[in-house]
Amino acid sequence: MDRNIESETGGTGHVTRKAVLRAALAAGLTAPAVLMGVPALARTLTGSEVPPALTPACDDGDDPTPPQTEGPYFKPNSPRRTSLVDASTPGTRLTVSGYVFGLACRPVAGALLDFWQADVNGAYDNTGFRFRGHQFTDASGAFRLSTIVPGLYPGRTRHIHVKVQAPGRPVLTTQLYFPGEPRNNTDSIFDPRLLMTVRDAGGAREAAFDFVLNVPQHPGPSPTPTPTGTPGGTWAAGTAYRPGDSVTYGGRGYACLQAHTAQAGWEPPNAPALWRLL
Ligand SMILES: [Fe+2]
Repeated sequence: MDRNIESETGGTGHVTRKAVLRAALAAGLTAPAVLMGVPALARTLTGSEVPPALTPACDDGDDPTPPQTEGPYFKPNSPRRTSLVDASTPGTRLTVSGYVFGLACRPVAGALLDFWQADVNGAYDNTGFRFRGHQFTDASGAFRLSTIVPGLYPGRTRHIHVKVQAPGRPVLTTQLYFPGEPRNNTDSIFDPRLLMTVRDAGGAREAAFDFVLNVPQHPGPSPTPTPTGTPGGTWAAGTAYRPGDSVTYGGRGYACLQAHTAQAGWEPPNAPALWRLL
């Protein structure tokens, strides 16, 4: 464990009304949450403009989530887990939840999110995997991380690092920020487009953020099909497929393009990098 001064450079940006609306809508926040816990909204919206709470939605080809520097403390091979804490972990409990969308605002199922952050004292675990973990979005494109509010360390404002990757697509490396942090004004890497919405929840914090990946999508009459019950074909999660293998799914035939072990969310129609329609 080291206390470090992180040397990172990055861009700056601005909050767009569209982005804020999307975040609020897609986060599925209740009306009180939208009204109470969204300093980001306060930057651009008046009270009369606060959107109503709706089910996840996304209106158009919104700007992709901006990338940021990885910094010096990323480690590959983090454990797959949605919680980075246990009962003895010091720090203010924090949940971060949201959705991963593509350019057509359709949810991306099976997207990989790899989080890493400092502990309550502002230190990264560079020998082990404390406060490091990856997970995949579910069939609705949703994710949820249980952690603590990261501590501050010299040179940076409060932040959480994350890498996000749709199946078979390039990795987005970026960082998430907390509203109302004094150092947001002096950290040259800070980007308000990456502000989470955060609210208090009984001594804990609940944060929301939606990612928009630079993933082409074809707008359709319905969201990405959500497999329910039995998959319609020979494709099966947990199966190791090799290039050239063929399966059926939803009444169509597909050929495997890349060796992989199938998992929920990577059904052939959702994973064009893995499966070619026959
Ligand atoms: Fe950092």
